[in-house]
Amino acid sequence: MPLLLVFWLNRKKQSRGGWSAKSERRLSVVVTRRLPEAVETRLRELFEVKLNETDTPMTREQLVGALKTADVLVPTLTDTIDAGMLAQAGENMRLIANYGAGVDHIDVATARQRGILVSNTPDVLAEDTADMTMALMLVVMRRIRDGSSLMQSDEWTGWSPSAFLGQRLAGKRLGILGMGQVGSAVARRANAFGMQVHYHNRKRVHPDTESELAATYWESLDQMLARVDVVSVNCPHTPSTYHLLNARRLKLLKPTAFVINTSRGEVVDENALTRMLRSGDLAGAGLDVFEHGTQVNPRLRELDNVLLLPHMASATVEARAEMGEKVILNIKIFDDGHRPPDQVVPSML
Ligand code: DGY
Repeated sequence: MPLLLVFWLNRKKQSRGGWSAKSERRLSVVVTRRLPEAVETRLRELFEVKLNETDTPMTREQLVGALKTADVLVPTLTDTIDAGMLAQAGENMRLIANYGAGVDHIDVATARQRGILVSNTPDVLAEDTADMTMALMLVVMRRIRDGSSLMQSDEWTGWSPSAFLGQRLAGKRLGILGMGQVGSAVARRANAFGMQVHYHNRKRVHPDTESELAATYWESLDQMLARVDVVSVNCPHTPSTYHLLNARRLKLLKPTAFVINTSRGEVVDENALTRMLRSGDLAGAGLDVFEHGTQVNPRLRELDNVLLLPHMASATVEARAEMGEKVILNIKIFDDGHRPPDQVVPSML
């Protein structure tokens, strides 16, 4: 880390009072949701922690209360932290150590202006999220849910040559929207399934990565969409990706195409997608995330060619533990006077 930055951080600690005397006062940390037991235990050992025993999402007032009094806030994606709330943050609040990779619920630019750092937990969610992306693809393209429902109804009369015909993955063109860690992990899996990998990204990836992933780059998202059989949304939600798949772009897809989203609902115009799925202008969708959080378009629920999941793509025991370790490291390293390794700055978004 540049020496100037260390100096600045130390100055900041001293000017805000209390923090520099690490041995005298432990950092006060507020955690907004229940985390794995081992993570909570370690947090308790290291810091003055206030845990949320009930796991009920905190209200806006409670979050503002935490911002006013604590040194560090550990929120999750269920906690919106906007400019109005950050304006009320107390003198001691210095770090928002998000438990999660996405930070679209936090106004990172305002936090920075107010001298509050933001960190997240990248790297540890990609493989699990990519697994779930493939699972969604398989379920909707191979009609696994239809078959499973029949078996649960106890009405199966036996094998039939024409029953449950789905779409073969091998040979299909997959268009990955966002070739970051998750997109790359999806590409590796898709290659193993014999799919042809295409991608659109803000920046073209390094040629070595492109050839390792056997991925074809499309500068024009519109042109890629017109040619693929499956779209996988793997980019973060930022102002520039909001409704990237809007009604116009969704119409570029073939009527036989599938849409998979394990990233953020806001990237896709959910109403337009629902209309197209209902009218048969799209073949199906696998969605783990929704544009308005828990307020899922009720018409989506009525569709047979759609699989809906409750934002569980990264939900493995391993990922949640590793996310906790990252949160602890970010706070600890910050407490020791260094930049948190997973600091998020507005230019990254
Ligand atoms: C994240 O960390 O942002 C993920 O969406 C959680 O699954």
